[in-house]
Amino acid sequence: MASASFIILSASFDYLFFATILYPTVVGALGGSWLLLHPTIGITAMHMQLLPSDRVIVFDRTDFGASNISLPDGKCREDQYDYILKNDCTAHSIEYDVASNSIRPLMVLTDVWCSSGALMPDGSLIQTGGFNDGDHVIRVFNNSCSSCEWEEIKSGLFRRRWYATNHILPDGRQIVIGGRRQYNYEFFPKAMASEKAYSLPFLVQTNDANIENNLYPFVFLNTDGHLFVFANNRAILFDYSRNQVLKTYPEIPGGDPRNYPSTGSAVLLPLRIVNATVATAEILICGGAPKGAFMNAVNGKFDGALNSCGRIKISDSDPKWAMETMPLGRVMGDMLLLPNGDVLIINGGSNGTAGWEYGRNPVFNPVIYRHYNPSSSRFEVQNPSTIPRMYHSTAILLRDGRILVGGSNPHTFYNFTNVLYPTELSLEAFSPSYLDQDSSGSRPKIILPMTQTRIQYKQLISVRFRVQNKVDPNTVSVTLVSPSFNTHSFSMNQRLLVLDVGNTTKVVGNLTYEVNMTAPPSGNIAPAGYYLLFVVHQDIPSEGIWVVIQ
Ligand SMILES: *[C@@H]1O[C@H](CO)[C@@H](O)[C@H](O)[C@H]1NC(C)=O
Ligand SMILES: *[C@@H]1O[C@H](CO)[C@@H](O)[C@H](O)[C@H]1NC(C)=O
Ligand SMILES: *[C@@H]1O[C@H](CO)[C@@H](O)[C@H](O)[C@H]1NC(C)=O
Ligand SMILES: *[C@@H]1O[C@H](CO)[C@@H](O)[C@H](O)[C@H]1NC(C)=O
Ligand SMILES: *[C@@H]1O[C@H](CO)[C@@H](O)[C@H](O)[C@H]1NC(C)=O
Ligand SMILES: *[C@@H]1O[C@H](CO)[C@@H](O)[C@H](O)[C@H]1NC(C)=O
Ligand SMILES: *[C@@H]1O[C@H](CO)[C@@H](O)[C@H](O)[C@H]1NC(C)=O
Ligand SMILES: *[C@@H]1O[C@H](CO)[C@@H](O)[C@H](O)[C@H]1NC(C)=O
Repeated sequence: MASASFIILSASFDYLFFATILYPTVVGALGGSWLLLHPTIGITAMHMQLLPSDRVIVFDRTDFGASNISLPDGKCREDQYDYILKNDCTAHSIEYDVASNSIRPLMVLTDVWCSSGALMPDGSLIQTGGFNDGDHVIRVFNNSCSSCEWEEIKSGLFRRRWYATNHILPDGRQIVIGGRRQYNYEFFPKAMASEKAYSLPFLVQTNDANIENNLYPFVFLNTDGHLFVFANNRAILFDYSRNQVLKTYPEIPGGDPRNYPSTGSAVLLPLRIVNATVATAEILICGGAPKGAFMNAVNGKFDGALNSCGRIKISDSDPKWAMETMPLGRVMGDMLLLPNGDVLIINGGSNGTAGWEYGRNPVFNPVIYRHYNPSSSRFEVQNPSTIPRMYHSTAILLRDGRILVGGSNPHTFYNFTNVLYPTELSLEAFSPSYLDQDSSGSRPKIILPMTQTRIQYKQLISVRFRVQNKVDPNTVSVTLVSPSFNTHSFSMNQRLLVLDVGNTTKVVGNLTYEVNMTAPPSGNIAPAGYYLLFVVHQDIPSEGIWVVIQ
């Protein structure tokens, strides 16, 4: 075991290495900035979800010792199944209030470790499964009250769900897919009380013996209402309502696995709505660890992470992967859609795999990917953090355009010393360069509609905004971003829609403009529920406002 001082030395060494060896000439040009919000939030941010109340629900696991924050009012959790503390008076979930930068400890009753979730159309968080006494439990967190607590539905799941993936569906239900040794899927809520799980042989076919490499599958709702499911090194288009594979996509070139524990990440690139249709749906998958990396890591050899991305038009009749090379290899990175449509790749390491103690060499620099640029100029390396964000780190988009970053390497017993990458309780924010002071003159500020507006499908939407500098009407767009559930380097339910504003930007007052557009046409393109609406001008997004599509 390395000593704490070694860890600090190795972290600063890595930073120097990246700054001086890989980017000797561009150091001054790196974008973005970091802010430490809290040295400790008391728990490790293993799972995060932004609620429409602008509060973030964070949780780790209940059965690995005392956290660093007490439950309120002297409460304790009695749990005969807990491996370490049968009586635990510490919290394993918190609510983080973005506006006040404050924390409220929450009680979770059963184990939520390595679970999944998504927001329902009413804004409540549905979290599914976990481990041990929690693996069949569904938990609800209501968005509508300031002192809400977790509520449990004891046998809400038909099958145990641990490392599963959820997605919201056009009918407002959630699908819960896979999980350890679960080659099937189920729904919440159930169509009828007796509804069971449906088998999914694709998860058997993509299961590498003993290692799996297909957990937390990358699931996206295609614009035809079917699901794109990527596991290990390949994907299908799946009609979940008929339990039918509609299309099998080619294997990703190179054949290396991209899912847990070879954890890469994936996004559905922005969906551009023109004339009430989306012509192209594209998936981008980046990083991960090469085949065999997990067993190598178990045996003390930490393979270099993959530096390749694969991009595929899933809506094409004959889809092919286009491969690209990232400036930095990365395993356990998170891919997030920024409000202006750029993709942020953040967190993770450059060696090893996911899993306790199996990652090495943190990657401190995020990278931005501009999907619409020519292939030679898509990646841009950003300024580094100083805090390793290895296994069990998370990142989510906030309404103000910042990225909330937390978590990393909790250890059994919550060890803070004598371990490599000690349990990390800090919370940081990464501000992309669009939040720089010198962008403020071009930044739109939405003045109408007011927050939490309801929008019907196909409805005409009128948005008014103010910009200090002269507006170039050809660079104004409006985007809708769904708040996603992030864990294990994957953001479930992540989606960004670019609305068709045509060239309608009109001056309606002093420095005040109006744009008109049509709301998304259907639940296949935008499942009902909460979205953040941003006005983007010259690639600089406004603060978002919450809208509800119904
Ligand atoms: C635990 O919390 C206390 C009080 O907030 C803080 O002083 C301490 O540094 C925390 N420990 C860790 C490891 O973050
Ligand atoms: C959430 O709380 C509000 C206010 O207490 C209540 O009206 C609503 O029914 C609750 N929603 C759910 C899903 O429990
Ligand atoms: C959208 O529809 C209008 C009217 O039907 C048509 O003139 C225009 O060419 C269409 N645009 C695109 C990009 O399909
Ligand atoms: C990380 O991977 C690179 C490339 O394979 C290798 O050269 C290096 O030794 C590895 N580092 C560690 C700490 O294993
Ligand atoms: C981690 O903490 C536990 C409980 O305090 C202790 O028994 C164990 O030795 C610690 N592990 C290390 C590597 O320090
Ligand atoms: C958009 O509108 C502006 C201002 O009316 C005009 O100058 C410009 O030519 C228009 N662009 C397109 C592509 O129609
Ligand atoms: C327009 O608004 C700005 C900022 O509020 C103000 O400084 C300026 O005087 C206004 N101009 C006119 C013509 O009203
Ligand atoms: C938006 O639509 C409304 C209602 O049709 C119209 O009055 C207004 O002028 C339009 N605004 C723009 C910017 O086109």
